[in-house]
Amino acid sequence: MQYRRPRRNRKSASVRELVEETSLSTKDLIFPLFLIDGQKKKIEVDSMPGIYRFTIDEMLLEIESCLKLGIQAFDVFPAYPESLKDPFAKESYNPDTFYLQGLRAIKKEFPEICLMSDVAMDPYSSDGHDGIVQNGKILNDETLEILAKMSLAQADAGVDILGPSDMMDGRVGYIREELDSHGFTDVSIMSYTAKYASAFYGPFRDALDSAPKFGDKKTYQMNPANSQEALIEADLDMEEGADFLMVKPALSYLDIIKLLQDNFPLPIAAYNVSGEYSMIKASAEKGWIDGERAMLEVLTSIKRAGAKIILTYFAKEFASLK
Ligand code: PBG
Repeated sequence: MQYRRPRRNRKSASVRELVEETSLSTKDLIFPLFLIDGQKKKIEVDSMPGIYRFTIDEMLLEIESCLKLGIQAFDVFPAYPESLKDPFAKESYNPDTFYLQGLRAIKKEFPEICLMSDVAMDPYSSDGHDGIVQNGKILNDETLEILAKMSLAQADAGVDILGPSDMMDGRVGYIREELDSHGFTDVSIMSYTAKYASAFYGPFRDALDSAPKFGDKKTYQMNPANSQEALIEADLDMEEGADFLMVKPALSYLDIIKLLQDNFPLPIAAYNVSGEYSMIKASAEKGWIDGERAMLEVLTSIKRAGAKIILTYFAKEFASLK
């Protein structure tokens, strides 16, 4: 005689919904958007079907349509032409640059949204690295000064959450102090805490033309083989004043999401990165998988692992479902 029959809790949709442990909401999502200079342009990213690079006028329209779907948080990344890049990412804190002007325009038009930005040198760097390069090496402490200038400029433009994605040591504390000493005590930091040196950033680097000009990012981004290091990074970020801890990428790092969720009281975010998006889109286009179901399964698994917040290119598609 078999007493225990787990299938009883799966017998109908209504019972399944009663016992469902993880539910996704549009409110959990942050939608990454790519900004380009100019007017009236909306250009699809070749390796990311359904994702566009927008000029500011088009981006304001996009945000408006997302707000109607219930998306309230946006992470804006700039794509700069080669002509504006230099070894010290000077354009990143030029107050007239289109990215900062764009952030300002977004916040002015939609003061109620949660606006996030990215802090790292790579979109502005002629070397395509997240820090200053000298003789083939990435300099840590010299880079912090540039990150701090960039952070102040973004805070001044009206950003709610800064996202340092550079993985330099000590940057969260350095940026926090700089923000506080300039009166930006309300600006939050979502640290890219455990950011791995991953192949899954490929399509994003296409979108931004930001691939490193030489070498790779392994001296600053984490080794995919390691998990203990994530605890060290999280300890430091929390001590240095981060408001959120992020794990990136998400899918191959669900164990890391869980590890941080189990060990730290801060809200955990996960970045469902470009390659994770494109993999699903490409196989769905070929008719090899059901793209919508795969999207839902992936997002649910990231939340189930312990992420409260998910940055995902699927945000609009998910929000459009119901
Ligand atoms: C910049 C940055 C990257 C991503 C977010 N911020 C790329 C990188 O580190 O090379 C990747 C996002 C994605 O793949 O969707 N430092």
